[in-house]
Amino acid sequence: MEIDFRLNGEDVTATTGDPTATLLDWLRNEASLPGTKEGCNEGDCGACSVIVTGADGVPRALNACILFLPQLAGRAVRTVEGLTGPDGTMHPVQRAMIDRHGSQCGFCTPGFVTTMAAAHARGDTDHADQIAGNLCRCTGYVPILRAAQDLEGEPVPDHMRDTAPAPAIRSARTFHPQSADELAEWYVDHPDATLVAGATDVGLWVTKQFRALDGIAFLAGCDDLRGVAVTDDAIEIGAMTDIETLRAAVASYHPSFAELLRRYGSVQVRNAATLGGNIANGSPIGDSPPPLIALGAELHLRRGDVRRSMPLENFYLDYGKQDRQPGEFVERVTVPRQADSLVCHKLSKRFDQDISAVCGAFNLPDEDGVLCGVRIAFGGMAGIPKRATAAEAALEGQMLSAETLAAAANALAEDFTPLSDMRASAGYRLQAAQGMLRRLATDAPSILTVRA
Ligand SMILES: Cc1cc2nc3c(=O)[nH]c(=O)nc-3n(C[C@H](O)[C@H](O)[C@H](O)COP(=O)(O)OP(=O)(O)OC[C@H]3O[C@@H](n4cnc5c(N)ncnc54)[C@H](O)[C@@H]3O)c2cc1C
Ligand code: FES
Ligand code: FES
Repeated sequence: MEIDFRLNGEDVTATTGDPTATLLDWLRNEASLPGTKEGCNEGDCGACSVIVTGADGVPRALNACILFLPQLAGRAVRTVEGLTGPDGTMHPVQRAMIDRHGSQCGFCTPGFVTTMAAAHARGDTDHADQIAGNLCRCTGYVPILRAAQDLEGEPVPDHMRDTAPAPAIRSARTFHPQSADELAEWYVDHPDATLVAGATDVGLWVTKQFRALDGIAFLAGCDDLRGVAVTDDAIEIGAMTDIETLRAAVASYHPSFAELLRRYGSVQVRNAATLGGNIANGSPIGDSPPPLIALGAELHLRRGDVRRSMPLENFYLDYGKQDRQPGEFVERVTVPRQADSLVCHKLSKRFDQDISAVCGAFNLPDEDGVLCGVRIAFGGMAGIPKRATAAEAALEGQMLSAETLAAAANALAEDFTPLSDMRASAGYRLQAAQGMLRRLATDAPSILTVRA
């Protein structure tokens, strides 16, 4: 297969017989660009960070180790080798890293510099968040953060303003739908195919489990599955919406959900991972299902021309089992536009770039101080993301207080029998979930004040 894309300002064609060849391997082995490093090969360390610009013209840092070449059709890639200007002038980030002694080892530095250059091009100054997905084993983050601060206000060099070329891919083995309609028609006839959205799960099937995938549909061209639309009473989220876009879009409506999403992987992971993938993979520890379920999200599935909808919680039947027919895919999700009372908590061993041990979402609306329509959902407490119906019942019709929250926390023991695994023991999980409920007394002081 042949994939046309733009690399460091030049149009290139990558030729490969393997539809799951990664950009990282191609850069290092075929394009003689070894500046992009391989650390973990699973999206965790950021050593392989590159800047990718799509049709929207926004430069985003992505991990090249879990980015398949076919995902690049119609996109522009800039590697660490492409940061220096055509006349040899250093990029401001390179200059700042030298001035601040931020360049500590040759392994991590290219990834840091590239991620920082992407943030600089977008004018993003939340530096700690931006480099949370770049690991430095010598822990020398302070000089790097100082370098990032120095960059604020520095003009973006002209050569960094990449534009994406028209998508072009020639392949007999893979399918590249350009719309939801095309995908729907094809998938009915190829129900065993693997859909690849952001590849933050599927990428690891290849790089870590060495799975050979055949019959792949790359969804990157389905622009009509991408985006967030806000109506008077609802927010509609297309399945191909990446988590970082979703985070920004919901920030003013559901700030606690947005804050939870800020702790979803790293900026590189959030730029790739899609909401549809996070829902469809059925993981019991995915971060988006608990808040969506607590908000009362409706899931919209499509098989051919047939569409059906269901409350998101009904989609999850059992561990690894979802209510999805062969040839059916996630088209979009809708949530209510406003839920002032939604509070979310993520508990993980590391603050950034870590999967949840327990994730809790609490939606506690009230009428004149009486809780009404309580919805509570947890991840990490069962084989699926699940509502805590006994805890909900303990709160429904009550005034919110430390006492009613304690009763609801006790009821959680009826809702869940969590498992012990490498992330947490069963006992710790239950106690942590109960603690999340109890701390709502301090998380939501405004609600309590109203009740008092
Ligand atoms: C380093 C790292 C950190 C991570 N951190 C987190 C984290 O903090 N929180 C968290 O929740 N997850 C995390 N993840 C997991 C991952 O990001 C999510 O599961 C992700 O949302 C999957 O989305 P994707 O678009 O990348 O899916 P893909 O990998 O492309 O696909 C995943 C699965 O979903 C299917 N699929 C994709 N789109 C659709 C669709 N529209 N309809 C039907 N099926 C579909 C695919 O066929 C596949 O089976 C992390 C992953 C990595 C690598
Ligand atoms: S090599 Fe570690 S994120 Fe890619
Ligand atoms: S910069 Fe590489 S270990 Fe710190």
